[in-house]
Amino acid sequence: LDNGLGRTPPMGWNSWNRFNCTIDENLIKQTADALVDYGLRDIGYKYLNIDDCWMGERDEQGYIHASNITFPGGIIALADYTHSKGLLFGIYSDAGYRTCAGRIGSLGFEDVDAITYASWGIDYLKYDNCYNESIPERQRYEIMRDMLNATKRPIFYSICEWGVSQPFLWANEVGNSWRTTGDIHLGWESILDILQQQHKITQYAGPGGWNDPDMLQVGNGNLTIDEQKSHFSLWAALKAPLLLGFDIRYPPTDVLGIVNNTEIIAINQDPLGKSVNIAQSTKRMDVWTGELSDGYVALLFNKAETSITINLNFTAHLNVQGELSIRDLWEHEDKGAYNDSYSREVPKHGIVVLKLTGGTKIKEYPDFIDQYSDAA
Ligand code: GLA
Repeated sequence: LDNGLGRTPPMGWNSWNRFNCTIDENLIKQTADALVDYGLRDIGYKYLNIDDCWMGERDEQGYIHASNITFPGGIIALADYTHSKGLLFGIYSDAGYRTCAGRIGSLGFEDVDAITYASWGIDYLKYDNCYNESIPERQRYEIMRDMLNATKRPIFYSICEWGVSQPFLWANEVGNSWRTTGDIHLGWESILDILQQQHKITQYAGPGGWNDPDMLQVGNGNLTIDEQKSHFSLWAALKAPLLLGFDIRYPPTDVLGIVNNTEIIAINQDPLGKSVNIAQSTKRMDVWTGELSDGYVALLFNKAETSITINLNFTAHLNVQGELSIRDLWEHEDKGAYNDSYSREVPKHGIVVLKLTGGTKIKEYPDFIDQYSDAA
């Protein structure tokens, strides 16, 4: 959407993955504090987004109010607090008559709700798709786009339609991001499942409009450190919104060490805004590669149950010839210059992320391959 926002993917925190409906204003304030105190705001995590379940009732004029049990101070005070911390504030609603958790939705009230959000100082709207009366998606999402536009307040518009109507085909003119799949769940299987639905649509991501493979589960559940690094790296390189979803008030050191990798964040925030795509895929591994404004990125991803060696072939995987300088973005180390190829041992479910510079492009990049491979 050409509203000046989302020129790079949004970064921040959202309440849903960790807290579901058990949210209140204290949690949100403490999370604002934590984003600042742990240095996350300063490396780009600027949006503090409340998901479902903040709503109370509509009044007689149709205006929505926050729950006076969990948000007694009201949303304006919370948005003010968030802004005073140098953060941006996001909220959630639904393009149906109820939200997915059964609270009051915005269908039929798009005008008053957009005006309300703007008057509260909202900077980001996640707009869900439950209870939608089967009215076509595009129609419902466009109404809210127009109402947000009419407020003149810049509000990042996140379309939470779960890939059903292939939003990547229409949503670039409607929102700043669009969900590509159903919800992410806790656990490795969910991450693999979402990942294998991404490679056919990578060309739709770009400045102003991003594919959204759903929010990060880093720090939640029982993912190993290698699995969390893989999840974070792949989402970053797919140019997904980087929305943290763990309890950052009490961040485990090893989890912080993942999400504060500024070299991976720089891949996500690269001004060129091109997603990586699959260059090779087997049952055991993927090689994802892509262009950056100042070079290339390659992800050597091990899906197997043991450690394996993965080879990056410069011509086959990158369409590049000649000598390339290689930097490892997890080891934070220059690996030297190589011709033709570079191999690395990658741990089970782990990833090696390389930034490559130099060489000569031999043809336009990338050649999309159609199938995410299950072949051995
Ligand atoms: C849907 C969305 C989730 C979350 C919940 C809230 O399932 O896809 O991301 O917002 O609704 O109820």
